[in-house]
Amino acid sequence: MNRLLFRAMTPDDVDAVAAIEEKSFAMPWKREDFWREARNELATYIVGELDGKIIAYAGAWVSFNQAEVMSVAVEPDYRGQGVGTILFGELIKAVKARGAKAITLEVRPSNTAAIKLYENFGLRSVGRRKGYYLDNGEDALIMWNTRL
Ligand SMILES: CC(C)(COP(=O)(O)OP(=O)(O)OC[C@H]1O[C@@H](n2cnc3c(N)ncnc32)[C@H](O)[C@@H]1OP(=O)(O)O)[C@@H](O)C(=O)NCCC(=O)NCCS
Repeated sequence: MNRLLFRAMTPDDVDAVAAIEEKSFAMPWKREDFWREARNELATYIVGELDGKIIAYAGAWVSFNQAEVMSVAVEPDYRGQGVGTILFGELIKAVKARGAKAITLEVRPSNTAAIKLYENFGLRSVGRRKGYYLDNGEDALIMWNTRL
């Protein structure tokens, strides 16, 4: 994956990002949502390109020295090869550069790959939001790393 390059998401990327989102989530955001995020001053979104094709993206909001992760996804064909690990490491670098000292996110307890990924970056589950996911009523695990 040495041809994998990361850069900030721009409004021109939203179609490619929304296409990965569609394949990745039960309640996907639309291209308009990413277009708004690309212009949101609080938001930091990055995309990973392999030979010019976007295969991964991640984003977070940073405020009061805390980063709240909004989205992390890898194109299905490229999962399980370490891309998510590089992606999340790049997101952490980007939010630290904007002053984040802690990072938090919500994840489905059934999403073992994502939980493993986040634990590898020092995030720990500190609680649950009951019935958080509207599609199936699944709880959300709330994870934090307060020592970025
Ligand atoms: C979660 C996601 C981003 C991980 O991306 P990836 O490129 O597959 O991640 P990696 O290959 O870097 O693997 C990360 C860790 O998860 C583990 N993992 C990957 N796929 C796994 C699976 N299907 N089951 C269990 N563990 C898995 C890996 O072994 C690795 O841990 P290790 O380094 O300790 O061995 C990707 O699966 C994805 O896009 N999922 C759909 C969107 C999503 O659920 N996003 C998270 C929302 S909170």
